[in-house]
Amino acid sequence: MKVNKPTLLELLGDNDGSFVSGEEISRKLNVSRTAVWKQIRKLEAEGYAIEAVPKLGYRIIGRPSVITVHDLLPKLTTRVFGRHVKVLEAVPSTQDELRHWAEAGAPEGALVIAETQTSGRGRMGRTWVSPPGKGVWMSLLLRPAVPLPLTPQLTLLAAVALTRAIARLHPSLPIGIKWPNDLLVNGKKISGILLESAAEDERLRYVVVGIGISANLDRADFPEELLEKVASLKMVAGGVETDRASLVAAVLEEFESLYDLYREQGFSPIRALWEARAVTLGREVTLPTASGVNRRGIARELDETGGLVVEFEDGTVQTVFSGEVS
Ligand code: BTN
Repeated sequence: MKVNKPTLLELLGDNDGSFVSGEEISRKLNVSRTAVWKQIRKLEAEGYAIEAVPKLGYRIIGRPSVITVHDLLPKLTTRVFGRHVKVLEAVPSTQDELRHWAEAGAPEGALVIAETQTSGRGRMGRTWVSPPGKGVWMSLLLRPAVPLPLTPQLTLLAAVALTRAIARLHPSLPIGIKWPNDLLVNGKKISGILLESAAEDERLRYVVVGIGISANLDRADFPEELLEKVASLKMVAGGVETDRASLVAAVLEEFESLYDLYREQGFSPIRALWEARAVTLGREVTLPTASGVNRRGIARELDETGGLVVEFEDGTVQTVFSGEVS
């Protein structure tokens, strides 16, 4: 016998796909009908699909998908990337989880995946929307032997890897990279990369590559004010959902093979692959300056270190290494 009050999920879940009336739910949970409806919306936001039929009530017709190690490992063909993996339910940020693990000696290729992040972060101190069961929120550990100033090259490498992985699953989507590493489809950002490094005495110790892919999010999952600039793969692919475990496997495979190429041949092949996918080159860009006045110019190319070469209206040329162009 249950002693505790059942949750809405238990009431609906125990009923094996049959309807439970709103009245029964409100009686058993001892809350108002409005409160029941609010809880239904909350479950939907967590990835449950709930059918509501007047006079019959509610029933669960779909549950949130969950990535498990069990799903992922059979799909992986990598040697190193993702071979040590933690799949967690909810964390503040996978970046911090992996950083702790790195400090405790995690090997290169170690991966932390979370179903949801409560304080997911993006570049420039922004919040990263990471609702449960709908995206790929993960961090990958690299321990590269590269000089500290060249670390941004890994950001560009990551962007190429993600583009290739997504293109494998959605070959007809026009995916482009906005410098340095935003992935856009039809002008909307569907994925972002956050590189955080740990250094000591000017020496790079390790890099935590944070990867966020808004795979199966619906419009309602994003704050209204972001909808002009962001979208999910599902939204740009006509409602088609992406199998997240397959997407993780594809990202790790593409990433590992480009990382091997980078270690063997340096940045030049990565630069060519990045340029081939770039939407920024040849376009007008606006760069914020320290004085607060924006400067306009044309993005020309990547230089051999990974900086963006911009030609300004007055004919001067400058290479930028970080920040954001619009
Ligand atoms: C960006 O601003 O474009 C970068 C977004 C990076 C988001 C990912 S999600 C997994 C990892 N954990 C975080 O808190 N952020 C990164």
